[in-house]
Amino acid sequence: MTRQQVVVHDDGDVLAAAAAARLITAVVDAQQARGTASVVLTGGRTGIGVLEQVRASAARDAVDWSRVDFFWGDERFLPDGDPERNETQARKALLEHVAVDPARVHPMAPSGGEFGEDADAAAAAYAELLSSLAGERAEFPVPRFDVLLLGVGEEGHTASLFPDTPYVREQGRSVVGVHDCPKPPPTRISLTLPAIRSAAEVWLMTTGGAKAEPVAAALGGAEPVDIPAAGAQGRERTLWLLDGAAAAQAR
Ligand code: 6PG
Repeated sequence: MTRQQVVVHDDGDVLAAAAAARLITAVVDAQQARGTASVVLTGGRTGIGVLEQVRASAARDAVDWSRVDFFWGDERFLPDGDPERNETQARKALLEHVAVDPARVHPMAPSGGEFGEDADAAAAAYAELLSSLAGERAEFPVPRFDVLLLGVGEEGHTASLFPDTPYVREQGRSVVGVHDCPKPPPTRISLTLPAIRSAAEVWLMTTGGAKAEPVAAALGGAEPVDIPAAGAQGRERTLWLLDGAAAAQAR
């Protein structure tokens, strides 16, 4: 049973800086305990804003960036280097500014690459990568993710899992190609809820009044098929990082 926590910050800027400090500490603690750390990144304004704050932090070099494995929770299936790709934005915000080990940065494939325009094939390849990195005792074929970062959409989506879709219902695969996505671009790649729920800690980070309803619904026990963010729970901890506006309807 996950330990659920809600932390409300004054505004988006404070949330991003506080989440960045929390992430640095979590990575340092993981490296202290196991010599390495594994972080799953997300896209969107909030998720990228946190990475920018990590870059700006005086504490950032407490992390040995060469011993962090980076994955993505979802990706916009666009050509390599497209400014709208989550990978492009994460590299610009943080990864290009710290001494990561390129072999330990695991982006989801772009369109127009080895999989052409086949997002399903690209998703299957990412699932294979995750499976190859999973521990022998893994209950689900994905690595031990220490911290999995997520945003929340106005209708309750998280990663690229939207309400009432086959993708939010997926229980067998760890990664899916997502088609006809309401949030552009329409074609994406996403971890599924079982993969997300394999993470030790899941942090859902969002701001603004437009997210208040889905946040309240998720915290109130909504069904994941209706509010996908409600299904994003960590094995050990589920942490909601909100500003006052996003928390306004939550009891
Ligand atoms: C994406 C993200 C998506 C995002 C939410 C929230 O690729 O767009 O993965 O899930 O996190 O839509 O985005 P904001 O933080 O910008 O509201």
